[in-house]
Amino acid sequence: MKIEGRTFVVSGGASGLGRATIRNLIEAGGYASILDMNEEGGQALVKEIGSHRSKFFQVDVSDTESIAQAVKDTLAWVKETGKEIGGIVAAAGVSTPAKIIDRHGDPFDLKGFDFVMNINVRGSIDLVRQFLPHMIKVEPEAPDGERGVIILVSSSAAFDGQPGQVSYSASKGALASLTLPLTRDLARYGIRVVTIAPSLFDSGMTALMSDKVRASLTRVMEFPLRPGKPEEFARVVREGVENSMLNGTVIRLDGGMRMPSKM
Ligand SMILES: NC(=O)c1ccc[n+]([C@@H]2O[C@H](COP(=O)([O-])OP(=O)(O)OC[C@H]3O[C@@H](n4cnc5c(N)ncnc54)[C@H](O)[C@@H]3O)[C@@H](O)[C@H]2O)c1
Repeated sequence: MKIEGRTFVVSGGASGLGRATIRNLIEAGGYASILDMNEEGGQALVKEIGSHRSKFFQVDVSDTESIAQAVKDTLAWVKETGKEIGGIVAAAGVSTPAKIIDRHGDPFDLKGFDFVMNINVRGSIDLVRQFLPHMIKVEPEAPDGERGVIILVSSSAAFDGQPGQVSYSASKGALASLTLPLTRDLARYGIRVVTIAPSLFDSGMTALMSDKVRASLTRVMEFPLRPGKPEEFARVVREGVENSMLNGTVIRLDGGMRMPSKM
């Protein structure tokens, strides 16, 4: 599908992988609706790109009403620009590590589990769900009759989760698992689904990692021996949008790395 002249909705667009995705899609001639809780980061990106090609909407993806407002506002903006929705990149996500049983023998609090699942799984699906009634009516693009693309962001943790990643792995595994049924539900509308599962990438999320953890992860990398760059993630998103044969698949983007059990 062409990127030029189409609007892409990117949750988590104010930072890291989402922000790099927006920069890439803008470079390819797209428009961006930036959805994030982080107003400062979102507005800074609009300033960088220009307000004729991007707009920021403050959203908490774990809140259905908040998404509903962003859908309404994005569609009003699309009406103004005439640049139809081309896709959704659901990159908003959180990771709060906790072992299921701590060193005192106490089980983890379900509040932490619900928090991660609500943002990573429910938030991604709710965002897609609320844009779909509009997307299925978008004028299809020749020659295949394509209407749009959905990009979900899973993780290496979906396959080789580390100690303390029960919640995060559950959420990212869910996104990997639902990729195929979502694809099958949307095929008749000419909407594709591509899920990307990155390993360690430089971003706001991983900037919080200690040097010790970072060094131990670098030791188990295959090639190259460094974290991925957000731009490298963004290039895969772009291919996911432009290449119509990418559908119903989970792409591991990890330089061959498999996460170890022990650090
Ligand atoms: N960086 C990595 O190594 C890595 C690896 C695998 C998967 N991922 C996934 O990539 C995605 C992007 O993460 P990142 O690494 O760029 O991290 P990041 O922290 O730089 O960006 C995440 C963005 O999501 C936003 N966000 C968080 N909760 C939100 C909510 N409830 N509503 C709206 N926005 C919210 C944050 O404000 C932030 O701007 C996440 O889903 C993450 O799980 C990252």
